[in-house]
Amino acid sequence: MKRTGICKSIMVAAAVLLVSCEGKPGQYREVSGLKSPDGSLAMSFALDSKGAPCYRLDRLGEAVILPSRLGFDLMDGSSLREGFSVVKVETDSLDEVWNPVWGEEESIRNHYNEALVTLRDSLGRVMKVRFRLFDEGLGFRYEFPMENALSYFDIKEEITQFALTGDHTAWWISGDYDTQEYNYTRSRLSGIAGCYDSVRPYNASQTGFSPWGVQTALQMKTDDGLYINIHEAALLDYPAANLIYDLPRKTFSIHLTPDAQGVKGRMQAPCVTPWRTVMAVDDARKVLASRLILNLNEPCALDDVSWIHPVKYMGVWWEMITGKTHWSYTSDYPSVQLGVTDYAASTPHGKHGANNENVRRYIDFAAENGFDAILVEGWNEGWEDWFGHRKDFVFDFITPYPDFDLPALNAYAHSKGLRIVMHHESSSSTINYEHWMEKAYSLMNEYGYDAVKSGYVGDIIPYGEYHYSQPLIRHYHYAVEEAARHHIMVNAHEAVRPTGLCRTWPNMIGNESAMGNEFRSDINPGHTAILPFTRLQGGPMDFTPGIFEQDMSITAPGQTGKMRHTIANQLGLYVTFYSPLQMAADLPENYARFMDAFQFIKDVAVDWDRSEYLLAEPGSYIVTARHPKLSTINASAESLKQLADGKKDVLSGAARFVYDLPEGATASALKGAKAHDVWYVGGVGGPEEYVAEFSLSFLPEGKTYEATVYADAPEADYETAPQAYTITRETVDRTRSYSIRMARGGGFAISLREVL
Ligand code: NOJ
Ligand code: CA
Repeated sequence: MKRTGICKSIMVAAAVLLVSCEGKPGQYREVSGLKSPDGSLAMSFALDSKGAPCYRLDRLGEAVILPSRLGFDLMDGSSLREGFSVVKVETDSLDEVWNPVWGEEESIRNHYNEALVTLRDSLGRVMKVRFRLFDEGLGFRYEFPMENALSYFDIKEEITQFALTGDHTAWWISGDYDTQEYNYTRSRLSGIAGCYDSVRPYNASQTGFSPWGVQTALQMKTDDGLYINIHEAALLDYPAANLIYDLPRKTFSIHLTPDAQGVKGRMQAPCVTPWRTVMAVDDARKVLASRLILNLNEPCALDDVSWIHPVKYMGVWWEMITGKTHWSYTSDYPSVQLGVTDYAASTPHGKHGANNENVRRYIDFAAENGFDAILVEGWNEGWEDWFGHRKDFVFDFITPYPDFDLPALNAYAHSKGLRIVMHHESSSSTINYEHWMEKAYSLMNEYGYDAVKSGYVGDIIPYGEYHYSQPLIRHYHYAVEEAARHHIMVNAHEAVRPTGLCRTWPNMIGNESAMGNEFRSDINPGHTAILPFTRLQGGPMDFTPGIFEQDMSITAPGQTGKMRHTIANQLGLYVTFYSPLQMAADLPENYARFMDAFQFIKDVAVDWDRSEYLLAEPGSYIVTARHPKLSTINASAESLKQLADGKKDVLSGAARFVYDLPEGATASALKGAKAHDVWYVGGVGGPEEYVAEFSLSFLPEGKTYEATVYADAPEADYETAPQAYTITRETVDRTRSYSIRMARGGGFAISLREVL
């Protein structure tokens, strides 16, 4: 990471704003202000006549956040709400460029002006508020220094507020302590409470707290076309925040997730809270381009990141999700106990997906088509009664079923240049998972697994804790840190939604923490045109795109339900959703029916040095163009290692595309091959048709490209013709303009390869 410049400066105090924390005229005792580097945003901090701290945010002279309270109520009955005086205000600024290990671009500019306000109350308790103002938004957090009358304290509630200027349109999911696996609702803020039950379908673990509760990242839009996004950054050792809307005051307040005893943060100074963030931009594309959340996280904590690499994978997975096969091995026992149940003596029920033959079939298909890895779920003992019993000791994460030959399958995968992705379903029993973690990660090291998909289905054990309470936030981070020690990349499902920690811990290559494709027919059309504005603001998502067969009865005879997207929509997701971990989630036999469309998934890269956001509107459409990072495209880390060893026999699909090499080309073909410049464009639509109009002006001057356009056919529609697509080829340059119809639930994808 390279710092290009840092400077300290004294900021000029902004004009006094004659409003109190309640938004009415009042008297300030102290005011400090900040402007963003380009001057478009202004933040001011004040104490009202009672010594209550508050802040406001303006953009080009118009209010974004009206004066809003800051502070805490504590479990001991006292509060950090008022009675403060300002000890000092220190100002600073930073303008640096850093290079992410993986990401949407090669380098990221981190440019802000900062004010650190130190407050002391009448009891001598010191609370600092650090504000960082970027061109596109504000971040602020609370800090509690060591020299403090406040050393140990328990939080009853954080009272940070966001007072809004109107009844904005919002894209929101219901507030919850346990899950984000919900569809988004688009409504006015005043409409949030109107449909509590309908926005909260069943989940294996869910705890609502108010009809006015919503989760972050929350995307809003004012009637004047300003896009406001509220989220948090760097959530560590603190509960995750929800928001509660106060209708009369048009104000959101933080609502933290309590622990089992109702405490919302057990603090020991010195300590800091996560950053609260407010983005305010005049164009939806700027929300997608913003790196506010990443920039508020600490730089990379790892010295050696050479073992971290992007992963395009398939999985013995969708067949279990759809009910075609099962995670479990036998139906002999109503209950199983690890170490007691003799699986070898049991009768297999014959539908165990993770069996040697089936896993080899996937390995063969994935290797042929240039993937880096395959996930195998249901490989380990315990799945017979894993769900619904709130059992503590469900899995040990090290004992395979009798028909899964772990050493042999890993050797087979490696011989084809693939890795197997490990699966650890903790069944939310976190004590048990931590107990086995060292052995589980060591087993992975022994057999050359370098990525794990973990999961937290069901209510948390220890009993009474929530998925988003402080002890669980600690657990998820512990798992990531321990994994890093073992050079393992982590993709956690059902864990807390990300807050940019992947900047610091780039082995966090994925997270679910939202409704992904596994929710099948429950997913609303347009869901994937909201997620980049919300869930993906904190980091990549393992959405598991690429489902070509929408009809579950075809994938898994006897099952019902139809997913509401077109094939072209699924292709577009590989570009519109950024993730260094991308899955081709459908079954090999489903891809075999559409090999011409599958070609795009084979060709697409998953890591980028440039991204251009061409069109965007939450819930309606997103069109993105991306340029791959050549250093990671050549092949997976495993393949590169084999290449160096002279043993290479597989080449990633994206490398074949870049070097224009035929199917089945091996790495030796790379020697002397010339890299073609390539770009990919993806579009996803919403519940209504949309014609995407854009040009290829992002391409360099003087080059021509072969464009392959995968689009919805004229009759395509998620309900009536979800598999109707067209594939056209033409030679283009940067002057080419497109007008591409995206069907209801539709999308498109374009691959562009330079003509040499
Ligand atoms: C829920 C995860 O999201 C899913 O991907 C996984 O297959 C199941 N849990 C079983 O672990
Ligand atoms: Ca899930």
